[in-house]
Amino acid sequence: MERAKTTISSLRGKKAKGEKITMLTAYDFSTASMIDAVGVDTILVGDSLGMVVLGYDSTVPVTMDEMLHHAKAVMRGVKFSFVIGDMPFMSYNVSREEAIRNAGRFIKEAGCDAVKLEGGTEMAATVKAVVDAGIPVCGHIGLTPQTATKLGGFRLQGKDEKTARALVQSARDLDEAGAFMLVLEMVPESIAAEITKAVSMPTIGIGAGPGCDGQVLVTNDLLGLYEKFVPKFVKQYLKLAPMIKEALSAYVSDVQAGTFPGPEHTFKG
Ligand code: KIV
Repeated sequence: MERAKTTISSLRGKKAKGEKITMLTAYDFSTASMIDAVGVDTILVGDSLGMVVLGYDSTVPVTMDEMLHHAKAVMRGVKFSFVIGDMPFMSYNVSREEAIRNAGRFIKEAGCDAVKLEGGTEMAATVKAVVDAGIPVCGHIGLTPQTATKLGGFRLQGKDEKTARALVQSARDLDEAGAFMLVLEMVPESIAAEITKAVSMPTIGIGAGPGCDGQVLVTNDLLGLYEKFVPKFVKQYLKLAPMIKEALSAYVSDVQAGTFPGPEHTFKG
């Protein structure tokens, strides 16, 4: 059967049938094309861009213009995956009007299918406002990197009963507000599984165990491209950084030794 474009209803269908949903991040045309080609359901143009591509220490400094620049490149490479633009810090936190305006830019200027924003119960009204404006919203609770300082750093969330109940309530509130999907980051697996059963939208885990409806990883982590820090929840399918360094060193040696370019790389006049 010919592959069809992923839609919100096909994602919900997967949850209903118990089929796992795949999500990966992308920030550029070439990577997005490969992710799309291997059949990944959804691509997140994550604000992890700030750390793994732009070299910031956190996702906090990322701007709308930076996100849009990369979202446009990703869209040029995608035919079938459902693409979500990640709203950067302070692009949706000041007012609902600003949230709608900035969410609209991902759809109108970049051509994304939906947006993602961080926050639970306190963000439910903003999620509803953006959804009511006609823009699908993916929620993100648990460890929310944009506000990690407030949460005490990059650590597991919902460890005690009180914070676990607050997470479950947040998930219910976002479901009620009309979010179509929910990312659960660094949450104990039992709480993630409970949330997955409690809400109608699919849940996508990152450090939230196998009980979610799907999984997401930062592609640069999966490929072993980002060497600064490897979180426990990352499975590195490749260690690309050392391989790339080896290839780059071989090029330097070839040029220095005069063995590149060879006759096969050279035009005869
Ligand atoms: O920005 C990002 O890549 C994310 C994922 C880690 C879910 O938000």
